[in-house]
Amino acid sequence: MLDSNPIPAPEVSTVTEVLEQKSDVLVAGLTEEGSLSSTLEAVNKLTGGWVQRLIEDGEIRGKRGELTLLASPTDTGPRMLLIVGLGSGELDRHLAFESGAMVVRRLGDRQRELVILSISESFPEAAHDALVAGTLAGCEQQAIYQSEPALLIPEKIQFSGVSDDSIQRGCAIGESINHTRRLVNEPPAVVFPESFADKATSLFEGTSVTVEVWDEKRLIAEGCRAILAVGAGSSKSPRLLILRYNGGGSEKPLALVGKGVTFDSGGLSLKPSAGMIDMKCDMAGAATVVGAMHGIAKLGLQRNVIGFCGLAENMVSGDSYKLGDVIETRSGKTIEILNTDAEGRVVLADTLDVAIQHEPRAMVDLATLTGACMVALGTDVAGLMTNDQEVCDELQVATGTEGEPVWQLPMFDSFDEKVKSKVADIKNVGEGRWGGAITAAKFLENFVGDIPWVHIDIAGPAFADGPKPSRDAGATGVMVRSLIRWVENSSV
Ligand code: BES
Ligand code: MN
Ligand code: ZN
Repeated sequence: MLDSNPIPAPEVSTVTEVLEQKSDVLVAGLTEEGSLSSTLEAVNKLTGGWVQRLIEDGEIRGKRGELTLLASPTDTGPRMLLIVGLGSGELDRHLAFESGAMVVRRLGDRQRELVILSISESFPEAAHDALVAGTLAGCEQQAIYQSEPALLIPEKIQFSGVSDDSIQRGCAIGESINHTRRLVNEPPAVVFPESFADKATSLFEGTSVTVEVWDEKRLIAEGCRAILAVGAGSSKSPRLLILRYNGGGSEKPLALVGKGVTFDSGGLSLKPSAGMIDMKCDMAGAATVVGAMHGIAKLGLQRNVIGFCGLAENMVSGDSYKLGDVIETRSGKTIEILNTDAEGRVVLADTLDVAIQHEPRAMVDLATLTGACMVALGTDVAGLMTNDQEVCDELQVATGTEGEPVWQLPMFDSFDEKVKSKVADIKNVGEGRWGGAITAAKFLENFVGDIPWVHIDIAGPAFADGPKPSRDAGATGVMVRSLIRWVENSSV
């Protein structure tokens, strides 16, 4: 079996007296208005005003994202100094996360033993765990099958001015994001429905999350004919994964639902090669649910949460589901298949139906559902669609706090017409391409009953074409942070 490099796990701890430590690199922050943080002030004093002169000469400006690596002029303490520009805006969780991530990525060109981050003092305490989380997230990359690692991760990363609690929280969140990204970045020969379920099972072994896997036999018994239809063309049989976390006593659970199409060839409505290249990412919704559940459990949040992952591979064979087929979904509603490439909503039809049987107080689904959402919002913004403005607002507060951009799209009744079928209750495509993200959400709305529900289309932000200073290309782990935050703060 093909084996990827393990997820990097540097030793993370707190530290004091940062200038006395023999570190490879000491990292300090500088805002654009140029006032020195106490660490930079100390370095400045030790070096007879060296830092201040560099600032006055315009050599370092504190612009957001500016990274200046300097050899330390002192012969004790750190060997190098990395000055991180923090800009002139708000020093929020998003900036903390990105700063931590940028630092490890910038220092990834050499093997370093000890890196000390002394930038927490610039941030409010409520952002410290985001700094730690970002630092860990910066360690994971898409080159997981290269014999020489493209990014070298420090053996030890120490944070000054960060409490043990923030370190723990940050590590839990950072690790959760990386689990999601790893699941998405693995090739489809490694991650398929059965192995996805196996990987989740071992991830949650010994934790407070219980894992239930519905195999093909169980899916048949449960009447999950929609999931089975999408998986029919593949030699890899579908699965449904149920992850239960009970931190909230007897309260009704929150439900997280994920699209887990482990490879989307388009089926008989075959995608052209260029459109298929990244389609290992089509299980990112399910991977996000796994990552979020991991974080929720690690943080011991006092809520009940159930995760549901609908897992299938959309392939071409003599057994593929066909255009014109009518499927009676688990809910009893019938769907007419007019495009086998609109498979995500078909998988989700049954997955959502299983979820609502657990009577959640609210439900969020995540799916790389439509190219149309990317046409509407671009590659960095997730689309939100809902039947309940209150829960949607709560989610937007969470995504705003974490700095993960989202935009709500309307769910006007007039769109309902667009998914009506002449043969069955509904059809799996809209009328032409117009409003494709919304008609997909309208299709899903048929399967959520009266449960308050938010659909998040992550087709754009889940998987990146190119790298940024703060993250590699490939899987991004988008929405893991926001979901954890929502579950923690939600009052529904
Ligand atoms: N998985 C795709 C959507 C997608 C596209 C995700 C690009 C990430 C990047 C989805 O299954 C799909 O193929 N949707 C079709 C729907 C259409 C046939 C109605 C699309 O968007 O073209
Ligand atoms: Mn598709
Ligand atoms: Zn798909």
